Amino acid sequence: MHTPDDRRPWWRTAVVYEVYLRSFADSDGDGTGDVNGLRSRLPYLADLGVDAIWVTPWYPSPMADGGYDVSDHRDIDPRLGTLGEVDALLAEAHGVGLRLVVDLVANHTSAEHPWFRAAVAGGPSAPERTRYFFRDGRDGGQAPPNDWVSAFGGPAWTRVREPDGRMGQWYLHLFAPEQPDLDWAEPAVWEEFDGIVRFWLDRGVDGIRVDAAPAMAKAPGLPDAGHGPGALFESSRWVDNPHWDRDEVHEVFRHWRKIAEGYDGDRLLVSEAVVNGPERLARYVRPDELHTTFNFDYLRAPWDATTIRAAVDGTLAALAPVGAPVTWVLSSHDETRHVTRFGRARSGAAPMGFDPASPVDRALGLRRARAAILLTLALPGGAYLYQGEELGLPEVEDLPEEVLQDPTWERSGRTARGRDGCRVPLPWSGNRPPFGFTTDGVRPWLPQPEEWRELTVAAQRNDPASTLSLYRSALRLRRSLPGLADDEPLTWQDLGDDVLAFDRGPRFRCVVNLSARPVPLAGQGEPALTSEAMAGEVPPDTAVWLVGG
Ligand code: NOJ
Repeated sequence: MHTPDDRRPWWRTAVVYEVYLRSFADSDGDGTGDVNGLRSRLPYLADLGVDAIWVTPWYPSPMADGGYDVSDHRDIDPRLGTLGEVDALLAEAHGVGLRLVVDLVANHTSAEHPWFRAAVAGGPSAPERTRYFFRDGRDGGQAPPNDWVSAFGGPAWTRVREPDGRMGQWYLHLFAPEQPDLDWAEPAVWEEFDGIVRFWLDRGVDGIRVDAAPAMAKAPGLPDAGHGPGALFESSRWVDNPHWDRDEVHEVFRHWRKIAEGYDGDRLLVSEAVVNGPERLARYVRPDELHTTFNFDYLRAPWDATTIRAAVDGTLAALAPVGAPVTWVLSSHDETRHVTRFGRARSGAAPMGFDPASPVDRALGLRRARAAILLTLALPGGAYLYQGEELGLPEVEDLPEEVLQDPTWERSGRTARGRDGCRVPLPWSGNRPPFGFTTDGVRPWLPQPEEWRELTVAAQRNDPASTLSLYRSALRLRRSLPGLADDEPLTWQDLGDDVLAFDRGPRFRCVVNLSARPVPLAGQGEPALTSEAMAGEVPPDTAVWLVGG
């Protein structure tokens, strides 16, 4: 909850809770989460203690990519709600002290967007084609115009059937074929999105998350990227790539920053940018660009002290010169849930559900996840939580193949299951599916595991040892503990190999034990919160917040 008299912009230290709307709470019994479901659960989120919610796309969409294929950026999909309900959500969220961030998908539209339909229907000379990337193919038109690959697997080009019935030009889609890329070299695209950005800011939203920010400029002439057959979309490794992280994207963000500054109330622009290292990331949050950006180096780090510390130090060092706060994130609707990741021998995250399945020690994963949230919430800056992580939900790895919806599944030739396993609807209450997510007797859009009966909100709410209670306590203490509530920088302490220990100011210390032996705590302060029950020493895979010193 924000404090009105806080002089720092709220987003510098905010904890933002990601709502994957389709899977959060369903109010009308169709098995899909919706705006009114979210409204009904606002008291839960306020009580949890987060500052803001980010809602994934709720716009009219054929749902080829879970709503990231938008056919109208200024309306709400009727399956999810109405604009009137969104206005009510906004007022009610503000009423309980929560801010609201919306998702802006500007790199691409849906193939059902009126612009794209007109571009296809108008034939090769249609002026609407200049808003996208339509090109003739190579080899007499038979082969894609270049070697670019889609994030979901396969080529980034699809060929259209022209109005005369013959196969014709190709169009670019860095994501699914149902998501044609817009050409941001076109003034009409800028104008359109100016209007969309203003539409949402005028409605009173507190922030905008910019989807796929590094994709929003392509090298003139669309040269080959050097991607071989079967290449993966490994944007965190690309250097000088013709379709990713190009300098021109920053012009758009400078322009949007100016628009946002015309509004009162510290509106936030936050980017999703998976780029090659923290120095490239820092370019998105220069003083006249976006305010914050997700930190994928931290998210992708395996449960290993050296790698995590390198990600923390690297990001803090890179963002300090531009004056932007760091955000810390462990999970999202695009990644294998971290309870599952941390229970694997190879505990780092691979992008877009391309994680090879491997045996999971669920208890170990949960133990590490509980320690990880104390680490995350003790670091300087802001944090993003993904719905359900406060319940310790694991990835659902055994969804039947016939329910899988993520385009990754088909595009990878059914080799990568994709991201559905982290999108299974939340369990709220009761002993069997749908666990209060939707009306009893209705099947949620993805099936929930029976064993989630032990992980429901109702089952955890009054249990002081539950993961939900740990998150609530941590979020409360974060507001009140000296060091955490202030802008104190982090100072590392040496408590031995594989132990992450740091102070925030003279009276707060966080110790996370990633080693295999216990770490003695004598003389280090009084435990204010621990991720596991402990006495006198920190057991392996455990974190503690200490006060006093
Ligand atoms: C990133 C989003 O988080 C993801 O879910 C989506 O598939 C791509 N961008 C394309 O919009």
